[in-house]
Amino acid sequence: MRVDIVTLFPELFEGFFRTSIVGRAHEGGQLQVRFRSPRDFGTGKHRSVDDTPCGGGSGMVLRVDVMVACLESLEDVQPRAHRVLLTPQGARFDQKKARELAARPAIALICGRYEGFDERIREFVDEEISLGDFVMTGGEIAAMAIVEATSRLLPGVLGNAESATEESHGDEGLLEYPHYTRPIEFRGKTVPAELLSGNHAAIARYRHAQAEARTEARRPDLYAAYREAHPPPPPKPPKRSKRRPTVDAAPAAPPKPGDEES
Ligand SMILES: C[S@@+](CC[C@H](N)C(=O)[O-])C[C@H]1O[C@@H](n2cnc3c(N)ncnc32)[C@H](O)[C@@H]1O
Repeated sequence: MRVDIVTLFPELFEGFFRTSIVGRAHEGGQLQVRFRSPRDFGTGKHRSVDDTPCGGGSGMVLRVDVMVACLESLEDVQPRAHRVLLTPQGARFDQKKARELAARPAIALICGRYEGFDERIREFVDEEISLGDFVMTGGEIAAMAIVEATSRLLPGVLGNAESATEESHGDEGLLEYPHYTRPIEFRGKTVPAELLSGNHAAIARYRHAQAEARTEARRPDLYAAYREAHPPPPPKPPKRSKRRPTVDAAPAAPPKPGDEES
């Protein structure tokens, strides 16, 4: 997968693309990264990328002509990247979106700064993504989050030991079960006995039940969707008893005269 990053501050990514799983994906060639700076397409002697807002107001706005020239320059390589504008006004990023982006051959992550972009850039992008309902100074951290969540889904990036199949927000839509490691006892708090049993089937059942319970407790929205897709099995009919049904004994007939024991 190719990731084109449009940013005025490529130096923020130093280290990021050299470290851990993203670093491995980069080194292994599953992730190809290119940086492009709007500054290279800026106007005038100072290569300006921004200007004052029409109608007045504080801050500076990234120019549409500069940004679009920068985006179009990325088409020197095919396939054309799916253009993602990073903005707090976009659709909130989640694991489903990470899977969707990971399936694309190329994406361009467009990082804003200052007051953001001239509105007209929206007509030159394919979608708008937000990292969450808060405002950062620039789009670079959002770009890193998207690269990190997406690259670990690329085939061959995670080893078996790091498999993404059982993680939170996976195919089943549950949060992951709780993890424990040594020491078995810490300040009176112990590892659940079920995990120490050595019975793999029982451990799998316990973990799945834990994943369900914690999703229900923490994320009722996810749990409702999970339950709709996985209705619980109908309750088993009560077992029929093998014992003969007892017949109520008829009331004893009153003793006849002469029946008395002598
Ligand atoms: C200070 S913000 C601009 C915010 C804009 N004036 C607004 O109120 O919607 C500058 C840039 O940071 C990035 N940014 C800030 N918060 C973000 C978020 N939650 N998700 C994605 N990008 C964000 C965007 O690229 C944005 O253009």
